[in-house]
Amino acid sequence: MYRKELKAFPEGFLWSASTSAYQVEGAWNEDGRGPIAIDLKEDMPEGTSDFKDGVDHYHRFKEDIALMAEMGFRAYRFSIAWSRIIPDGDGDINQAAIDHYHEVIDELRKHNIEPIVTMFHFDTPAALEAKGGWAQRETADAFVRFSEILFKEYGEKVNYWLTINEQNMMILHGPTIGVFPADTTEQQLNQYNHNMFVAQAKTMAMLHEMHPQAKIGPAPNIAYVYPASSKPEDVIAADNYNAVRNWLYLDLAVRGEYNSLAWSIMEEKGTTPEIADGDMEILKSAKPDFIAFNYYNTATVADAPFGGGASERSEAADQQISEGEEGIYKAVSNPNLGMTEFGWEIDPVGMRMTYRAIWDRYHLPLIVTENGLGAFDKLTDDGRVHDDYRIDYLRQHLEQTQEAISDGVDVLGYSPWSAIDLISTHQGIAKRYGFIYVDRDEFDLKTLDRYRKDSFFWYQELIKTNKLPA
Ligand code: BG6
Repeated sequence: MYRKELKAFPEGFLWSASTSAYQVEGAWNEDGRGPIAIDLKEDMPEGTSDFKDGVDHYHRFKEDIALMAEMGFRAYRFSIAWSRIIPDGDGDINQAAIDHYHEVIDELRKHNIEPIVTMFHFDTPAALEAKGGWAQRETADAFVRFSEILFKEYGEKVNYWLTINEQNMMILHGPTIGVFPADTTEQQLNQYNHNMFVAQAKTMAMLHEMHPQAKIGPAPNIAYVYPASSKPEDVIAADNYNAVRNWLYLDLAVRGEYNSLAWSIMEEKGTTPEIADGDMEILKSAKPDFIAFNYYNTATVADAPFGGGASERSEAADQQISEGEEGIYKAVSNPNLGMTEFGWEIDPVGMRMTYRAIWDRYHLPLIVTENGLGAFDKLTDDGRVHDDYRIDYLRQHLEQTQEAISDGVDVLGYSPWSAIDLISTHQGIAKRYGFIYVDRDEFDLKTLDRYRKDSFFWYQELIKTNKLPA
């Protein structure tokens, strides 16, 4: 559908950008923070730094928020570190951490920036992981308790809450992200998934009870899946992967039910989770106010008969490079798309399709909580990063966002990844996403000074005028 005129971004659109605590904060062992499972991981991919120092946002948050305010942010999406608030996950509350996040939120409010708070972004407290992690209902209960503490402390100051970041990527690519060991079985993963959904559902209902003015939603990574061709078997494969990658997660979060196709695939494999009495009622009781989703690109798949191989690129599989699975779908490259320097396909039009598909299924307002380009940025002698490639990427995705708005999709805001450079999940600081450059390398913290990239000024202009710069 081609349009001569697109609808404008709505008034009050939440122009924002995102980070997550363990990737940006640093100060990993300060002020009582307990370790997270990822801190204890010993096998970081060669040549990539760990997360311990991040980009020192914990100490420099005022400077960073001032830069966000200079860009004109209406919102900032960040996560609150569970193991700062409760160092062992389910025991004593750490007042220093409670105070810290009050300061962060107050600083944002001072600049008229709306906080969008993620409660859990990959950072399971190590002490809970040692007791069995998400396999245990105790971890789900501990998360609910953590949420209650957050709502009591910050519920009057925070209007937008995100429960769990990319639960689907944790389940599908846990070892690559570093959240689960490589030998975790599918049955275990499906149980973790179920336990997380029960925890999330309780949390959503609790917020509505405690703070009716506040809104809450899930934040999965949604990527529309294309068939490799019009061959009917390829279309079935795409439907399979849409079910197991996307709709399983949103059907549980929004409708409180298992997607029947995804469930049948688990049944076929004998990996269905155990469902305790009352769980399905709990899942049904949760009513998210919006759907937040992270979008980087689409996936393309072909028919996958047994014995035919599962993927063209499985050795590189991660959040955006599909793995494939014989009998279900075969991951293939899409010859119509370009790629980032890190091998992620780039598909702005696919974002419009993803908006449409989510909206058609659920009819809830949408917020994009991640979208962005990881690149090897270079700081030049003029103290800038000339990241026209990032501006192009963001512009194209925002053009498609405007197309989606014109198609009738209700979009509340756009919060790309990332507000500031931070440590990638498995590819170090070299894979930069920010509007703000941070002077550090993989193993040399250098000055940690902040620099405005060209994209910083581009985003500033966009927010000021509420339209894409010419
Ligand atoms: C998402 C995560 O998967 O993508 C972020 O929510 C992550 O935490 C982002 O950083 C980009 O992925 P990566 O692997 O390049 O860091």
